[in-house]
Amino acid sequence: MIPKEEDCRRRYRGVFDTLSPNLGAEILRYGWSKPGILNLGQGEGCRVTPDFIIDAAMEAAKDGKTFYGPVLGVQALREEISAYYKRIYDIDMPVNRIYVTSSGTTAMHLALTSVLDEGDEVLAVTPIWKNLMGAVELAEARIKEMPLDFDDETGWSLDLNKLFDSVSEKTKALLLVTPSNPTGWVMPYNIITEIVKFAREKDLWIIADEVYARLVHDAKAAPSFLEAADPLDKLFVVNSFSKAWAMTGWRLGWLIGPSCAENKIRDLILYDNLGVSNFIQYGGIAALKNGEPFIEDQLKLWKSNQAKLNDFFCNYPSVLAAPSDAGFYSFFKVEGEENCVDFARRLIDEAKLSIAPGISFGKSTKGWMRLCYAVSEQKLEDGLKRLSRVL
Ligand SMILES: Cc1ncc(COP(=O)(O)O)c(C=O)c1O
Repeated sequence: MIPKEEDCRRRYRGVFDTLSPNLGAEILRYGWSKPGILNLGQGEGCRVTPDFIIDAAMEAAKDGKTFYGPVLGVQALREEISAYYKRIYDIDMPVNRIYVTSSGTTAMHLALTSVLDEGDEVLAVTPIWKNLMGAVELAEARIKEMPLDFDDETGWSLDLNKLFDSVSEKTKALLLVTPSNPTGWVMPYNIITEIVKFAREKDLWIIADEVYARLVHDAKAAPSFLEAADPLDKLFVVNSFSKAWAMTGWRLGWLIGPSCAENKIRDLILYDNLGVSNFIQYGGIAALKNGEPFIEDQLKLWKSNQAKLNDFFCNYPSVLAAPSDAGFYSFFKVEGEENCVDFARRLIDEAKLSIAPGISFGKSTKGWMRLCYAVSEQKLEDGLKRLSRVL
């Protein structure tokens, strides 16, 4: 017998209701239920993973890499990540600080659960990707939001004094995403240095998400916390193969932490899923070794799409689209549309276009919308036609 939904709810009242609602995910699901929907709400590129990455993973599988692998990742991949930091940032990163994870999302869970205790406060610079706030909730800690400032002319900026003043006795960690999803704001190196110094003085953890580090428009990479910190600083850096190497479906990422975190992280992974699929990691090695031209190629498309989108928005004085230095999102607001969830729903109903409401990224951006432009030119043009109908 299949029980009725309401009977099941009554039986387990409260047990499964612990996390706060995710309005962005709800809107995405609402969109998916409509035939003919164009989804520019999700954060991923349009390219299939390049062949040289797929081939490397397939060869590894054929070569017998189908057994359990080392819990913290295949040694060759850990070494390749170390070589990557040398090449891109000129940082010497020892392999015992590098932990391969089954996604950036997992890397964030591992970092948070390894340092947070129930009731700890995490000060997060917002707007921020909702899942990161969810990860804090899962670790039974509390998020305190500290919004970026916004100026019509200059865009997003971080008021360091405001950030430092927001730290309370309960604050255990700062949660920072650079480049930012959704704003595309890149934290300048001098601010990173100030934050590292401050955290050191106050004995705070820094949990930095650098998943979009390679998606900057005018540099090889965004400045990294790893460039400013000492090996003894309380720092975790989260990264992922998802965006720069078009590998969202592979679920492969990495975490950099203090070397003495190795055993704790190993145990957490051991008791969770015993580590990332063995052969998948060989795709990661190929991505890091040979992926630079692919990253450049993707960036070319995204830059041209961003220019198209900006031109489009110029036709609508009611739209305020902030300049962005990285990533593949346009974060914008429309005059008179203060409720982003209603607006997102209207876009789905009237134009069959799904984009993410700003409330998913924190309380301060409930009048904003996020559109992912990492799609083919045709798809973007289609999206803009649909958007123009409602605007
Ligand atoms: C800031 C940020 N971190 C992490 C992720 C997720 O990365 P992964 O696909 O490796 O879980 C995303 C995905 O959108 C993101 O925006």
